[in-house]
Amino acid sequence: MGLQAGVILLLYLRHNMCYTTSKNQQMVDSGKDRIGIKVAPYETDKTVMSFLNNSRTARLLDPTQTGQDAEKLERNLLRRVVGQDDAVDQVVKAYQTYLAGLACPGRPIGNFLFLGPTGSGKTRMVESAAEALLGDARAMIKIDCAEFAHSHEIAKLIGSPPGYLGHRETHPVLSQESLDLYHTDKVKLSFVLFDEIEKASDTLWNLLLGVLDKATLTLGDNRRVDFSRSLIFLTSNLGASEMSKLISPKLGFASGIERDNSEAADEEHQRKVSTVGLEAARRKFTPEFMNRIDKTVVFKPLGDHAMRKIFDLEVGYIQQRILQSPTAVPFVFSCADDVKDHLLKEGTDVKYGARHLKRVLERNLVQPLANLIATGQVSVGDRLRVELDDEGGKLLFLKESEGMSIAAYRSPGSQDEYVEAAAAYARDKAEPVFKPVVARSRK
Ligand SMILES: Nc1ncnc2c1ncn2[C@@H]1O[C@H](COP(=O)(O)OP(=O)(O)O)[C@@H](O)[C@H]1O
Ligand SMILES: [Mg+2]
Repeated sequence: MGLQAGVILLLYLRHNMCYTTSKNQQMVDSGKDRIGIKVAPYETDKTVMSFLNNSRTARLLDPTQTGQDAEKLERNLLRRVVGQDDAVDQVVKAYQTYLAGLACPGRPIGNFLFLGPTGSGKTRMVESAAEALLGDARAMIKIDCAEFAHSHEIAKLIGSPPGYLGHRETHPVLSQESLDLYHTDKVKLSFVLFDEIEKASDTLWNLLLGVLDKATLTLGDNRRVDFSRSLIFLTSNLGASEMSKLISPKLGFASGIERDNSEAADEEHQRKVSTVGLEAARRKFTPEFMNRIDKTVVFKPLGDHAMRKIFDLEVGYIQQRILQSPTAVPFVFSCADDVKDHLLKEGTDVKYGARHLKRVLERNLVQPLANLIATGQVSVGDRLRVELDDEGGKLLFLKESEGMSIAAYRSPGSQDEYVEAAAAYARDKAEPVFKPVVARSRK
């Protein structure tokens, strides 16, 4: 009896001395081995000893780190899509899984359901991913489900069976060739976007269920289309009206309502909006469908801060259009701060999100600039500045200088840097970017 107690005491002391890290200690305390299997007390010492021997050579790995390619995609997406970091994160994760060769065989690489208010960046997200990976925002198959509300229209997607009228003329939208059309040497991925799926007919639903589950589709002529290298995005505005009721007091440019802008209040608000969106989706879509979705993301309504960033991006894109159009006269322009505030106030709309801001920019900047080009009031290398008049209701277009050398910025290719340079200039902070070679300031 005494001998037994001595051995137990010895074992106890040994294992307590050996254990240095608290994690190991926890394992011993809980009587579980490394993979969580319960071990009998007398085995604990052996199991732990072998773990200890191993851990002398083992290195702790970091499974949260992403590869360079995935990181690059993340950076690109965050730059193009404002305020929807969760969506960016999910797309990057799917891409990383694909790159590592661990995507689930016989299924699409990712099935995403994007919910949220109109103009919050759902379609933009898919376009940006296509642009970042395949070099073109339009490098995708985009199916507007509203166009396929009637069952007979499905023939446009999968083609008619042999013998049917128009069998030879109809080229199915969802053929293997169109899926593979945008593959590059490096990226063999396809983007498929089903927009506004709540408007799809039952036939389209059935077709979709098969694609989401098995990654295959049988065309009218019995050829098979393989979607196993596709990222499939489904978007829906379901629940948007309920969401906008929650959102309205949060968007502040026009409302002037006192708001609690603390981070916690914001998070709580976003959570409520997400729940409303998800509930609406669950009410409308069958569990059969929801089960086939890998990730549902509710896009957040865009707040003041996000709208400001989108303003800069969009002004940058206008600048890019001016410099890269083969017909427009290349010149640069910038907006004063009060112009930005003025246009943001006019362009903030709960119902249409950033879509409304884009319309306001087209009307107030693009149209007048087009007139200035058409009437020869601006010429190559001019620098314009847009200001607000003293009454604060009208935009004034002033020519600040002429003869700037901007040829370098017209070269196609480095689009990212380009957009950034242009946006920075438009924000009025980029003096060194568009350095005038022959700057002749107008007095
Ligand atoms: N989060 C965002 N980041 C950047 N631009 C955005 C964002 N949301 C909307 N936009 C702008 O508004 C336009 C319309 O947005 P879109 O993605 O088509 O909206 P929806 O959510 O209805 O699909 C886009 O082309 C883009 O210019
Ligand atoms: Mg859309």
